[in-house]
Amino acid sequence: MSTPKRYTITAALPYTNGPVHIGHLAGVYVPADIYARFQRLQGKDVAFVCGSDEHGVPITIKAKKEGITPQQVVDKYHAIIKKSFEDFGITFDNYSRTSAKIHHDTASDFFEKLYKDGKFIEEVTEQLYDAEANQFLADRFIVGTCPKCGFEESYGDQCENCGTSHNATDLINPKSAITGATPTLKETKHWFLPLDQYEPWLKEWIVEGHKKDWKTNVYGQCKSWIDDGLRPRAVTRDLDWGIPVPAPGAEGKVLYVWFDAPIGYISSTKEWAKREGKDWEPYWKDEDTKLLHFIGKDNIVFHCIIFPSMLKADGSYILPNNVPANEFLNLEGNKISTSKNWAVWLHEYLEDFPNQQDVLRYALTANAPETKDNDFTWADFQARNNNELVAIFGNFINRVVVLTHKYYNGVVPAASDFSEVDEQTLKELQAYPAVIESSIERYRFREAQMELMNVARLGNKYLADEEPWKSIKTDEERTKTVMYVALQIASVLAVLSEPFLPFTSEKLKKMLNVSPSAVEGSLAWNDVSLKQELLPTGHTIGKGELLFSKIEDEQIQKQLDKLQASKAMNEAANRTITPQKDTCTFDDFTKLDMRVGTIIEAEKMPKAKKLLVLKVDTGIAIRTIVSGIAESFTAEEIIGKKVTVLVNLAPRALRGVDSEGMILMTETPDGKLVFVNPDTDGVDNGATIN
Ligand code: 2FM
Ligand code: ZN
Repeated sequence: MSTPKRYTITAALPYTNGPVHIGHLAGVYVPADIYARFQRLQGKDVAFVCGSDEHGVPITIKAKKEGITPQQVVDKYHAIIKKSFEDFGITFDNYSRTSAKIHHDTASDFFEKLYKDGKFIEEVTEQLYDAEANQFLADRFIVGTCPKCGFEESYGDQCENCGTSHNATDLINPKSAITGATPTLKETKHWFLPLDQYEPWLKEWIVEGHKKDWKTNVYGQCKSWIDDGLRPRAVTRDLDWGIPVPAPGAEGKVLYVWFDAPIGYISSTKEWAKREGKDWEPYWKDEDTKLLHFIGKDNIVFHCIIFPSMLKADGSYILPNNVPANEFLNLEGNKISTSKNWAVWLHEYLEDFPNQQDVLRYALTANAPETKDNDFTWADFQARNNNELVAIFGNFINRVVVLTHKYYNGVVPAASDFSEVDEQTLKELQAYPAVIESSIERYRFREAQMELMNVARLGNKYLADEEPWKSIKTDEERTKTVMYVALQIASVLAVLSEPFLPFTSEKLKKMLNVSPSAVEGSLAWNDVSLKQELLPTGHTIGKGELLFSKIEDEQIQKQLDKLQASKAMNEAANRTITPQKDTCTFDDFTKLDMRVGTIIEAEKMPKAKKLLVLKVDTGIAIRTIVSGIAESFTAEEIIGKKVTVLVNLAPRALRGVDSEGMILMTETPDGKLVFVNPDTDGVDNGATIN
């Protein structure tokens, strides 16, 4: 599109069944915020909107689990999420919620218009029903095997493994997530959006129209769904939590969460426009508006196929210009999971690392899952901070500010003759805005941030080569020129870092004594390429302070311990404990004669994978015992081992060898056998255990 008049930037509405974690940030909110900040810095008209996604089965499930109402769930998490976004510096123009009246009205009206225009198919079909819970099983209330990839825990509406979106009745071996029961089929009426009718148009719009400008992962997913053939999708549900369906005969039914949630972008824009005294419509209806949806890869089908079909069905809306979806971020090698508490929660990060928002922004962007899934590790986070932000960016700024105060009382000196290196450096600086802009406009935020760091690298190299701390003793004029150039580099960093490291940029502007970006007369993005001088001779800079500080090993260890604790809690919750056996009497127990013994010989039983033949000194006699432990131990490693032996077990022949007792063993969660070995150091063989 030619130069857009305005930008409508949406970021996926987070489900309010838990707080926001680093996966959400890396996939959606940090890139969306970089983009929105960048456009605002260019003076563009931007509406950056988001809000809480408060309907849908995930909320109901969470409420059931916690024994509270869905409203209490969404109130709790909406407050946490909203505050954490604000504290983290995500600059939404509006953060709404789908329980707001403006959203209920907007979504209801949207449905009603399509209904009246005859855009839906109204049909009675058989849907999965849990007779025990007395409820239809929509979406996450049902789990079963994905018909496409065979994943056994696919939800009713979408498979989290392969991303396919399907109807609940497509699942193989469906089970109710409420009672575990196998569902029956029961007739119910619903409204369907006939996606098949939109197929030719979607082909033209996406497959032919966006082959070049949409990311390969997004385009590929869309093409494969369209190639597979689209089918009508129900946009209503038999649930009691959601927006009531505004159609006759729809009592007790609500809009499908994926019908109402994207309309949340529109209602959030309306809420913002009302507050600001603006008209919302051009942001959604004027062809000169660039509409962009920032999302994670599991949301692609909804934003590229279903929502655009809804907008097309209405007929008065523009379509997204791009949907720059990211892949997933894993954490320390495992999939991030809200239910398993395997996550770095934003609100906890902000408490554990106060005033270090930019470190997380930086680490997430440097490692953003733009083209493939990536892994966040605390070690990488620490290294990004200590070796890049502190050692490169912070170090350069620190040297410039300290030397300017030391040599010139904080006043920018006058430059005299520029050397070739000076000229070259100043010219190189002027090229950076375009380089970074080109990466941002192609949604390559990692690349863009790397270029920003190259400005700091350029600064460090310039100082290291020109050595003002040496020339100050011999050539005052040369030193002034070098410091003048170094100060220009510092001011370029202050401007260009704003979309990526907004807190740092603000601090740096204060240190350089220039206005923050929103203020009249502040340095603008385009000034960098237009002017060679951002800080004029005679300008007095502010006081120096450290931009970044080193993150110590102990801080990292604390985070790793937190994750370890989550892992242990999960393992405990998932452990399957063998049920307790029937009660036995004391007499029953005393019949068992258990002794301390020592293994004195061991060898493999020929042709038996699991068996070792042992000689055990039981104190009573040297016994032969055949034990099924060969997959957990070698013969050599157990010689001399103290063990517990049941010595009065009736002998029995195993592969022709008489076994005269049994060694007590137990098993680790991953199936390795271990000896039940009471603390028997210093106890003689033959001592009884009771
Ligand atoms: O996947 C999710 O977390 C959804 N709540 C995203 C909704 S995006 C939009 F359509 F609202
Ligand atoms: Zn699947």
